[in-house]
Amino acid sequence: MDLRPLLGILASGSFHSGEKLGGELQISRTAVWKQVERLRSLGVEVHSVTGKGYRIPAALSLLNEAQILAGVGASAANWEGRLDVLFSTGSTNVDAMEKAQSGADRYIVVAEHQSQGKGRRGRTWVSPLGANIYFSMLVSFQSGVAALEGLSLVVALLVARALERCGCRDLGLKWPNDILVEGKKLAGILLEISGDVAGPCKVVIGIGLNVRMPSSVTEQIDQPFTDLERCFSGVPDRNYLVAQLILELEVGLAEFSRTGFSEFYSLWQDRDIYKGRMVELRSGGSVMRGIVHGINHSGALLLETDEGLKVITGGEVVPSLRPVNEEGEF
Ligand code: BTN
Repeated sequence: MDLRPLLGILASGSFHSGEKLGGELQISRTAVWKQVERLRSLGVEVHSVTGKGYRIPAALSLLNEAQILAGVGASAANWEGRLDVLFSTGSTNVDAMEKAQSGADRYIVVAEHQSQGKGRRGRTWVSPLGANIYFSMLVSFQSGVAALEGLSLVVALLVARALERCGCRDLGLKWPNDILVEGKKLAGILLEISGDVAGPCKVVIGIGLNVRMPSSVTEQIDQPFTDLERCFSGVPDRNYLVAQLILELEVGLAEFSRTGFSEFYSLWQDRDIYKGRMVELRSGGSVMRGIVHGINHSGALLLETDEGLKVITGGEVVPSLRPVNEEGEF
């Protein structure tokens, strides 16, 4: 069942009767209804009103390769033939990793829907159709995995910069690479690496950006989240947002290749929302409590615990509900 034509019509945001839709798509009203149900099952909010028909609550522009390439201006030459826009896929990170394995050095894939979106730490990334941005970029580095220290933090910084170029304000970073607004997650990043520890390696940078998360899927999300629509007025077109991500990543990753993390260290610290705060660090089955002392020059988290200062390279930071007393003890 190809749902693109129906979604393309509903994208206007106005009502369309089942009969008219059937006529335009050359299918029966029952078939229209079945497609509407399928759209709903993929997370699209479709309202139906007797006598008026079907509509989605807000107009939507579907992801489009030509619009994305137009948005990146002169950089389009770098991506022509290396950019895929998919309607539905399992995971754009998996798609990009497959490209890497078949020899590609650079590649971008965005999708309207993911059926098996991957989050960090084995989580699922809830990826309803036509709502958000699911983006993966494959990049290659020549100097081995060690030179990638801090890369995931750099990517978070670059995503925040791209969003600021689109008018978003008050974005904060949570170690290692979440982008938050008022303590709620707006975007998440998943890096996957293949290649040589000492030599050339390929990295898939997966970015999930919440644009307009439909209420029908919110109960599936297991952490506080937000989206652009809830935080900012005048949310730009998703194609424009994708173009800004590409531009910021291109420039920023080239700088990272030259300088490593050092150029980004203090910029990341300036946006750290948990610096000086009591948090829990969850890793595997264990939980460690401590006060965040920022990061070191490799991008590791510095946590002051009752057993001394720990250098943390993996795990999840969550704010602790127990307050720190005036001496900073806990
Ligand atoms: C996180 O848990 O914070 C990371 C989320 C990363 C989600 C993105 S969506 C595009 C890409 N494809 C995936 O399967 N995951 C990443």
